[in-house]
Amino acid sequence: MPKILISEKIDPICPRLFQEAGFQVEQKTGLAPEELADVIGGYEGLVLRSATRVTAELLARASALKIIGRAGAGVDTIDVPAATAAGVKVMNTPGQNANGVAELVFGLMFSLVRHLTRASSSLKEGRWEKNGLAGTELLGKTIGVIGYGAIGRRVGTMAKALGLTVLAYDPYLNDGQIQASGAVPAQPDEIYSTADFVTLHLPKTRETAGLIGAEVLGKMKPSACLINCARGGLVDEAALAEALGSGRLAGAALDVFAQEPPSADNPLLALPNFIGTPHLGASTAESQVNVARAVAEQMIAFFQTGALDGVVNP
Ligand SMILES: NC(=O)c1ccc[n+]([C@@H]2O[C@H](COP(=O)([O-])OP(=O)(O)OC[C@H]3O[C@@H](n4cnc5c(N)ncnc54)[C@H](O)[C@@H]3O)[C@@H](O)[C@H]2O)c1
Repeated sequence: MPKILISEKIDPICPRLFQEAGFQVEQKTGLAPEELADVIGGYEGLVLRSATRVTAELLARASALKIIGRAGAGVDTIDVPAATAAGVKVMNTPGQNANGVAELVFGLMFSLVRHLTRASSSLKEGRWEKNGLAGTELLGKTIGVIGYGAIGRRVGTMAKALGLTVLAYDPYLNDGQIQASGAVPAQPDEIYSTADFVTLHLPKTRETAGLIGAEVLGKMKPSACLINCARGGLVDEAALAEALGSGRLAGAALDVFAQEPPSADNPLLALPNFIGTPHLGASTAESQVNVARAVAEQMIAFFQTGALDGVVNP
């Protein structure tokens, strides 16, 4: 029976499903890269979340490895071309944490427009600041969604329910696929210049890194807010800090940063119209169970029947 290594903390349903299917499964968390390299040769499957880096060097030591299962969406910590070259499949669990991330997007949007984080801290500091903390409402506003996959679509559906107009851009979908969920297909420039909220739900790749920089920020309405719960590095943080500090942009919320955690001198952290969370998008009880179950079920099916559900390099 295949031997599986789980290299990170994960909901117990994951090892349990492997055991019930008769697999040998070992969970070794917190291994240093060289420790992982020393043991990886003994496993056919590797389950990870976002902390384990799979490099070409690690793959060179993984002589028995057939599949890497990412409990989650992003595979940017895995050298996928090197895995493909080594004949190793890479699998993720698309959509399993979409609702968790989408709900965080709305938490951040409500916090931005109603100044919730500032209001709560000032109340706890003994102030009663009704003046200066008046907000705006989401109803009737326009949200632009860049990347209309599992999370983007869930955001779109929730935005429609709250009475927002949804514009969506996704170069890999046709207009009919975007319209099917009630969104209006739009080009990026139309989104940047008309949306009250721009929210990012695309992967970080060589092409999309730095997508939102000074030029794009300059196209957005001064009253608009930017939300990034996708990946750090999609947004130029220095340019964003400049836009927020100068009043060029009303507000921004990031759940992901180019460097995580961000350094203490990151200029965003000092700005009152900026909200940050420590990469919490999928950190809900429900999402963690969903991804842990899905990665085990997909990997078991792969070994038992050759099924390629969730494989990103088929
Ligand atoms: N904050 C978190 O904790 C958290 C949790 C889960 C996922 N994520 C991130 O959210 C993002 C979306 O995840 P998902 O599950 O919806 O993935 P998904 O694959 O279902 O959707 C991504 C969409 O982006 C589109 N896309 C690719 N390149 C694009 C481009 N240049 N412009 C516009 N669209 C483009 C794709 O066609 C696809 O439809 C990923 O970056 C993922 O890493 C973050």
